[in-house]
Amino acid sequence: MKPLNLTAKSTDDRKSAHFDREPRSGAAVRPAALADLPRIVEIYNHYIENTPVSFETEPHDAEQRRMWFEGFADSGPYRLLVAEVDVSVTGFACSARFNPRAAYSTSVETSVYLDPACTGRGIGTQLYSALLAELDQEPGLHRAYGGVSLPNPASTALHERLGFRHVGTFREVGYKFDRYWDVARYERELAGGAHDK
Ligand SMILES: CC(C)(COP(=O)(O)OP(=O)(O)OC[C@H]1O[C@@H](n2cnc3c(N)ncnc32)[C@H](O)[C@@H]1OP(=O)(O)O)[C@@H](O)C(=O)NCCC(=O)NCCS
Repeated sequence: MKPLNLTAKSTDDRKSAHFDREPRSGAAVRPAALADLPRIVEIYNHYIENTPVSFETEPHDAEQRRMWFEGFADSGPYRLLVAEVDVSVTGFACSARFNPRAAYSTSVETSVYLDPACTGRGIGTQLYSALLAELDQEPGLHRAYGGVSLPNPASTALHERLGFRHVGTFREVGYKFDRYWDVARYERELAGGAHDK
C-alpha cells in the first residue's frame, strides 16, 4: 500500500491527505498518536466497567497500555485510528492479531469503540469504514473478523452494513455481571490477499 508518511507524533502532523477527506459525520479520522492513548483508554474503560461489550473486567491504565499501543503502525496489518470532533477524540478503531499462530497472519480482528455520548450519528460508520479501507489496501491481508457480544444492535448493524457476514454465534461463551453472554462472529473479505488467485 502507499506510504502515509505519518512518522511525526503530534496530532496535526499525523493527518494525511488520505484521512483528511470530507467527513460524513462531522468527525475527522486519522491514525492514533501516543498523546491519544489516555483518551482511548478512558473510552475503552467505560465499556470494561459498565457493559458486556468488552469481556475484560479490569480497567486499563494508560501507561500499562503503552506496549499495546506500540503494537500498531501506520502501515501493515495492525492499525489504530481515532475519530476527532472539534479536536476531541470521540472514538477509536483497531485491527489486531487474530491469533498468534503463524498461519493466521492473513487475518485480523477488528473493533471499534466510541465515547457513549457520541454514538448514533454516523461516527462509527466513518471510523470503521476508514479502517477497512486501509486494510483493503494491505497486500498481506485476506480476512477481517469482528466479535459482537449480544445484544448489540448498533454493532450488528454496523458490521452488516460494512460488508461483514455473520458466520456463527458462540452460545454463553462469556460470563460477566453475573450472567453468560453470547458472541456473534462476523467475517469480511479484504481486497488485497497476497495468496488470492
Ligand atoms: C457500535 C458503534 C461503534 C456504532 O457506531 P455509531 O456511530 O453509534 O453507529 P452509526 O451511527 O454509524 O450507525 C451504524 C449503524 O448502526 C445503526 N444503529 C446505530 N445505533 C443504533 C442503535 N442504538 N440501535 C440500533 N441500530 C443502531 C444505524 O442505524 C446504522 O445502521 P444502518 O447503516 O443500517 O443505517 C457505537 O455505537 C459504539 O461505540 N458502541 C459501543 C461500543 C461497541 O459496541 N463497539 C463494538 C464492539 S463489537
